[in-house]
Parts: sequence; C-alpha cells; structure tokens
Amino acid sequence: MSSTLFRTKKVEQSILDTEEPEHALKKSLSALDLTVFGVGVIIGTGIFVLTGTVARDNAGPSVALAFAAAGVVCALAALCYAEFASTVPVAGSAYTFSYASLGELPAWIIGWDLVLEFALGTAVVAVGWSGYVQSLMDNAGWEMPAALGSREGTGDFGFDILAAALVLVLTAILVLGMKLSARITSLVVAIKVTVVLVVIIAGAFFIKGANYDPFIPKAQDVPPGESLQAPLIQLIFGWAPSNFGVMGIFTAASVVFFAFIGFDVVATAAEETRNPQRDMPRGILGSLLICTALYVAVSIVVTGMQHYSDLSVDAPLADAFKATGHPWYAGFISFGAAVGLTTVCMILLLGQTRVFFAMSRDGLLPRFFSRVHPRFKTPHRPTILLGVVIAVLAGFTPLNELAALVNIGTLFAFVVVAIGVLILRRTRPDLHRAFRTPWVPVIPILSVCASLWLMLSLPAETWVRFGIWMAAGFLVYFLYGRTHSRLGKERETAVDDVLKPPPNGETP
Ligand code: ALA
Repeated sequence: MSSTLFRTKKVEQSILDTEEPEHALKKSLSALDLTVFGVGVIIGTGIFVLTGTVARDNAGPSVALAFAAAGVVCALAALCYAEFASTVPVAGSAYTFSYASLGELPAWIIGWDLVLEFALGTAVVAVGWSGYVQSLMDNAGWEMPAALGSREGTGDFGFDILAAALVLVLTAILVLGMKLSARITSLVVAIKVTVVLVVIIAGAFFIKGANYDPFIPKAQDVPPGESLQAPLIQLIFGWAPSNFGVMGIFTAASVVFFAFIGFDVVATAAEETRNPQRDMPRGILGSLLICTALYVAVSIVVTGMQHYSDLSVDAPLADAFKATGHPWYAGFISFGAAVGLTTVCMILLLGQTRVFFAMSRDGLLPRFFSRVHPRFKTPHRPTILLGVVIAVLAGFTPLNELAALVNIGTLFAFVVVAIGVLILRRTRPDLHRAFRTPWVPVIPILSVCASLWLMLSLPAETWVRFGIWMAAGFLVYFLYGRTHSRLGKERETAVDDVLKPPPNGETP
C-alpha cells in the first residue's frame, strides 16, 4: 500500500504529458510576461487593505518589519520553487513538483491544499475589490442596496453581487485564452504600480516623525476567553496571548504574508512559458524582489503619515491621504486599487484552474476536466466549474478568516516544496536544473523552519479549519484518486503485461 501512496511520476513523463495535443497548453510567455504576471498577482489586498488592520492591531509602525520578515520567508521558498519550476516545467506548481519527488499522496495533499489557497484567495480579493468599487461609487453618489453590498463588519446576511460578478466576468476572459488575459494584466499592473509609487513618493512629504514613536509598541495582553484566536505557538508554549511587541511583528507577518501570495502562481504557468528553464526563476525572484521593496516603503510611509492607531481598516492608503487633507490623491488611489485588484483576482483564478487541470490530467480528479478547448486551448471545464463555485463563495463569505486559511495553506505548500528539493536532489541528481537552489541543504531547511514559524504564528482556529479541509481531501483521495490515478493504471498495465504468459506458451 505504501508503495502506491508514494509512487512518483517520472519528471520526463510529466513533460511528455504536456505534449499530448488534446491536453497541451499554448507556450507563449516570456520572462518579462512572467514578472508582470507575478507583480500583477502579488500586489493586492495585502498591501491595499491588510496594512492598516495589522498596523493598528498587531505591530504599529513595525508592520514594515513584518513585511520584511514575510518577504524573507517567501524569498527562501522562492529559491526552492525556482529550482523545481525550472526542472519540472509543467502546469500545476507545487503539485506537479511533489508528484515528481515525494509521491502521489503528498502530491494529492499539496494539490488539494493549493485548491484551497487559490479558490479562497480569489474570493478574498474579489470581496476586497468590491469594497473599493463601492467606495468609489459612494464618491459619485451611488449607493448599493445593503443586501447586495459588502457585508464586512456588519454581520448581516447578504450577497456581495459585485464580488460575484467580478469572478464570473474573469472566468469568461480566462476561458477565451491566456494571451488576452496577459495583455490586460500588463496594462493593469502599470496602473497598480503607479498608484503604489504615488503613495510612496507623494506620501513621503506628509510624514511626521512623531508617528514613529514608538516604532515597536509595547506588548499588550489579549483578553482571556479568546484563546482559539491566539497564535498557536503561544498556546503550545503556554505563553500569555499578547499583541504588539516583538511577537506582534511575527503575528503581523503571518497575516501580511497574504500580500506575497502569488509568486508561487508564476510557477503554475511554467508549461505556458517559452523557455521555462531560464525564464521561470527570473520571473519568480524578480517579481518577489520588486514587491518586497514596495511593501516596506509603503508601510513606512503610511504609518509615518498617520498614527498607527488612527489608520483605517477598509482603505488605509487612501484614507491616510484624506487624513492629511489630500482627498484628490485618495480618489486616485482608490481607483488604482480597484483596477489593480482585478488582475490579482484573475491570476489567482488562473492558478487555481491550472492546478485542478493538472490533477485531472493525472486521473486524480475526473479526466473530463482536463480536455482543453479545441479552439481556445484553455482548460475551459475546470475554469467554468471553479469560477462559479468561487463566485458563490465570494458572494456569501466574509474575508478576514479566509485570508488566514489561505496563508496556512500556502505556507504548508512551501514546506512541501522545500522538502521536495532535498529529496529530488538525492533521488534524481541527474536531472538538468536550469536554476539550482544555492547552499542546499541550508536554504531548504531554513525555508521549512521559517514557513513553520509563520504557520505557528496563525490563530489556533485557523489550524482547526485547515485540518478539516485536509481531512476532506484524504477522503476524496482514498475514495476516488487512488483508484483512478493514471500513473497507478499504467503501472497495473505494465505489471499485467509482465505476468501474462507469452503467446507461444514459453516461460519468459
Ligand atoms: N498577494 C495578493 C494580495 O495581496 C494575493 O491580494
């Protein structure tokens, strides 16, 4: 049994599968496309929305350190991702990589986990987008009926129709083809980066030094009775749950980590890259570096413009400008955020459908989902199915807790990828690696420890939810995936061929 659970798919087989015409995606992306693609998905709700909440509730001005810490965790993971992506250039990201190194069950676990990351991530960003659009509509004097607007913080029942509509429109764009979406992405990324630069450059003139005092606010106890909301690490070690202080920086890092999600999505596009061996590492590391620098700069500027305890939770970047008496900038920033979040949502949705596609191509999910559209060459079936499910999720679900769940799922994927690098180096030292993770095994081991540390800094209740999702995944695998696995079937056929007596009756 354990030999079937840990059967691995040969790297060469993974690459061959992508060449079957019925299941092949178009190879059209360059390193620049990938970097734009990366920046397009990375900068989003994290910097535009979470910065304010986290500075106010967890870290104060030291939220900049939290961004830097989360950036380091991601850079370590990126070095591992880049080696895998450049060695196994097929769709599916960490899922494919672990199928080639760790075996079928770990690959299933990671694929299931990535479905969680991307699906909920898309929903989170769609709801954030809807909030910004509604704020712009308010400026123009149009108000959404409460039942169809954002429910954040109201606790009322309703359906966020804008968030759902966004997901459905993006689904249609993705079905029509990758190139179209890449072109739209480039334009939107330009707008988004401009807005971020405006925040940094214009905002720098409105900084007041007093707002940085104290830079790391003193630790404060969290009220008892909210123990499941305390970071797991504090519960494990029996520490009194606290906010701010040095621990607050790590709690903040585990939340603002959401702002970095997306560089791993670049790896899911490996199969659609013209020269994945060279371009993939450039795309992943380049986009990550640009975003880390921008985040640290933005958070320093914003916490310098307004005292952290006064920052708004809905639109902190825009509201900091309002607070300093510059509403024109605020409108511009809100507009750019609304436009920018569109691509984030679209690329997360794209990553999601590609993982589902790869799992279906391997027979772990029904093969029906992996036939590409004859004309558009896109995996239209999983795109439409998941688009509709996510639209419903985005319509009904509040986002705060979902973001934490997305983070834990992604960090878990990082752990598996880093371990996978170590295993593949030992089991397949012969494979050509266009990009090699430096200082192996130090970097992968550091990556595992750093990711685990952030996971432990997330609330205990997030761990419970994650456990439930993974348990459901095990059920699906054992009831469907294990018996329908294409790899398993090929192995059975090969064994039958060996056992079958030869036609002339001789013993082999
Ligand atoms: N990194 C993306 C965001 O912040 C997911 O919205």
